[in-house]
Amino acid sequence: MQWSLRSIFASALVLLAANPVISCPVSVNNRDVLPLVVNTVYQFDNTTWNENLAVRENGKLLVTRLDTPILMQVDPTNAVAPVTVANFSSEYAGLLGITETLTDIFYVVAAAPFDDDFVKTSGVISVFKVDMNTFNLNDSGAITSAAEVTKVADISTAGFLNGMTTLNDVLGYVLIADSYNGVVYRLDVYTGNYTIIIDDDNMKYLSDSITNLGVNGLKIRDSYLYWSNSGNPIFCRIPINDLGEATGASEVVAAVDSADDFVFRADGTAWMAQNQIESLSVVKDGVTTLVAGNSYSTILAGVTAGAFGRLSTDSNILYLTTNGGLAIPVNGTIVVGGEIASIDTSVY
Ligand SMILES: *[C@@H]1O[C@H](CO)[C@@H](O)[C@H](O)[C@H]1NC(C)=O
Ligand SMILES: *[C@@H]1O[C@H](CO)[C@@H](O)[C@H](O)[C@H]1NC(C)=O
Ligand SMILES: *[C@@H]1O[C@H](CO)[C@@H](O)[C@H](O)[C@H]1NC(C)=O
Ligand SMILES: *[C@@H]1O[C@H](CO)[C@@H](O)[C@H](O)[C@H]1NC(C)=O
Ligand SMILES: *[C@@H]1O[C@H](CO)[C@@H](O)[C@H](O)[C@H]1NC(C)=O
Repeated sequence: MQWSLRSIFASALVLLAANPVISCPVSVNNRDVLPLVVNTVYQFDNTTWNENLAVRENGKLLVTRLDTPILMQVDPTNAVAPVTVANFSSEYAGLLGITETLTDIFYVVAAAPFDDDFVKTSGVISVFKVDMNTFNLNDSGAITSAAEVTKVADISTAGFLNGMTTLNDVLGYVLIADSYNGVVYRLDVYTGNYTIIIDDDNMKYLSDSITNLGVNGLKIRDSYLYWSNSGNPIFCRIPINDLGEATGASEVVAAVDSADDFVFRADGTAWMAQNQIESLSVVKDGVTTLVAGNSYSTILAGVTAGAFGRLSTDSNILYLTTNGGLAIPVNGTIVVGGEIASIDTSVY
């Protein structure tokens, strides 16, 4: 996530308009299909900050909220309405990164209250385990059996924990970006033990950046840890071993402006949510291409993160979380309800 906190509470002109859908001809030439068509899966109220998401093995979406410490399940087919899976203590300001280790076992970051400069003002940042194996809905979408939620660790040394990814599902190692301090933590989810495992200059924000957030989204691919940086327009990677330790120098993969979280598609293209510029871009072979949204449009206002479907029917569908422009309102004033959006990426 990234934003100027002041803007959240600024009296913005709030529009509840449904997102316009741009129709495009399908073509084998990538450029001819742009911008990609953005669909609304579900639109929440004006002040909803959808922050991050993970897709369950059964295809349902788990969505973290930053405006309130709530984890929701959203059915991408809309067969049933979104439900609250877990409502965390009001000691937490909201939720951020989420990652799965073993099937239906997820870990989420719960943020302590923080100020405009992303400095923690009280409390502690924690990581919770959410076991969805016990979770059940009946046919009308009512919860008949709850998820099991347990605290894993209080990470007292962290500045602002944000994106999260799984390093080793069996050993129970997850990596978590500390955006404020520009470092990556490794957390052992079985012992609660944690350590700063990578501290790299390319993870810091620039001193003249409008946000005090550096490293944001994390993903591991082919023994490299990749990350986006919100306060420095670079998308980077570093080779790591099985313990998450760097085995070489970091390098810049591509230039990406105002990146929030990101996700790889199976073909290795990286899909970058650009919250502050209400845009989605794709990085392929070191080249960054805008594929949907723009600073003047509400179509992807405040897009925060993405995840691809896991069913045979939706593996090319990119699901996106948005905050409706709460970070940087469109045209300075326009905020819409936070959404779960979807894009069929198979044409690109
Ligand atoms: C959303 O914003 C519109 C326009 O300001 C307002 O009319 C409406 O009541 C708001 N809805 C909610 C749920 O806050
Ligand atoms: C979550 O719990 C708080 C009290 O801590 C309550 O005010 C709020 O309505 C609950 N939200 C949901 C969606 O259950
Ligand atoms: C699901 O549970 C709710 C709440 O207990 C109940 O009102 C509803 O009738 C149930 N639906 C089905 C299909 O069992
Ligand atoms: C916790 O991590 C530290 C630093 O990596 C390590 O020295 C220590 O042995 C670990 N403790 C446990 C109980 O795993
Ligand atoms: C933002 O401003 C531009 C330029 O004035 C305008 O074309 C666009 O429609 C505006 N966007 C919205 C969502 O009103």
